[in-house]
Amino acid sequence: MLRRLHKDQPEAFAFTPDNLAWAEAQITKYPEGRQASAIIPLLWRAQEQEGWLTRPAIEGVADMLGLAYMRALEVASFYFMFQLQPVGSVANIQICGTTSCMICGAEDLMAVCKDKIAAKPHTLSADGKFSWEEVECLGACANAPMAQIGKDYYEDLTTERLAEILDELSAGRVPLPGPQNGRFSCEPKSGLTSLDAFAQDRKQHNASVALAVEIGDTIKRIDGTEVPLVSHWQDRSDRKGDAEPTPHTPDLAGDAPVDETGVDKREAPVQGTGHPRLDEPAKEAEAASQGGGIKPAMLDTAREGAADDLKRIRGVGPRLETMLNDMGIYHFDQIASWSTDEIAWVDSNLEGFKGRVSRDDWVSQSKELASEDETDFAARAKTGDVDNT
Ligand code: FES
Repeated sequence: MLRRLHKDQPEAFAFTPDNLAWAEAQITKYPEGRQASAIIPLLWRAQEQEGWLTRPAIEGVADMLGLAYMRALEVASFYFMFQLQPVGSVANIQICGTTSCMICGAEDLMAVCKDKIAAKPHTLSADGKFSWEEVECLGACANAPMAQIGKDYYEDLTTERLAEILDELSAGRVPLPGPQNGRFSCEPKSGLTSLDAFAQDRKQHNASVALAVEIGDTIKRIDGTEVPLVSHWQDRSDRKGDAEPTPHTPDLAGDAPVDETGVDKREAPVQGTGHPRLDEPAKEAEAASQGGGIKPAMLDTAREGAADDLKRIRGVGPRLETMLNDMGIYHFDQIASWSTDEIAWVDSNLEGFKGRVSRDDWVSQSKELASEDETDFAARAKTGDVDNT
């Protein structure tokens, strides 16, 4: 398929202030001279904000990364996950048209899209709410035919059910993702024939659906003001026993996750998985949240009334700094002196940011800062090269 910039483009693009802070923080993940490596997350965030990638957005991201516009366009036009034309204001419907889905009725699903949205893919519906396209295998072949809508999968679809889903979305509701024929996940349609003892322990939804319900951002645009995603994972890890997550109805205007300094877990979803990944830092945070540790010595107030600028520590933003100050932590030398047990205590008591002390090695950074040796990050933060405010 020929992928070109759309003929109608807006005049300008700007990240929202929170998305800009997130994007600038992403850039700091990469070593000096390698900032261009941030292009995919930045383009993805621009698309999450706008719905599609406009020429001003691609050029704006290129400017942020010091890239020739052509280099950014090469990336945007290569990956099919980037939409180079306007998409529906409510949702872009991605129908899997590969073998399993095709055998099980993908063409009938596309006929529904042609009927209810537009005769051709990548075209807006008359009311502007929807667009649709055929995509390659999304990795849910056992639940064919299926479609990805926003960030989530709708599986075991029939033409009738897809039509209903479009109607519900049009009316401002977000139907429950996952299998649409009553299956729990991808067990045989006629029921389990083995391992059925495990069926008794089932939760209300399979893990993907439970997470979609919990986060509630199936079709939400991301403006950067959302709740930290990491807290969702921690809430899950903190659950005891068989307690079921409190389901809520995803809302078009509902909250969705993002992180404080932008070093968060919301990566561009990989085509074929459809959901964010629980990556290594999150696992570390989960492990830390289970440890007790020893509470380090705290101060009632900053010495001589002047707290150190803890935001010079990589990974510490304004919210974390306030949280640390409230706990009685004001100075680099306090953090520099923490023992392993004390690190474990602080790691497990940073509500919403558990595990950050070890993940970003605050102690080593603080030792350097306390001895007036600046870390690379702190030096850049000081000169304004990094937006850590
Ligand atoms: S063939 Fe449709 S998900 Fe794999």
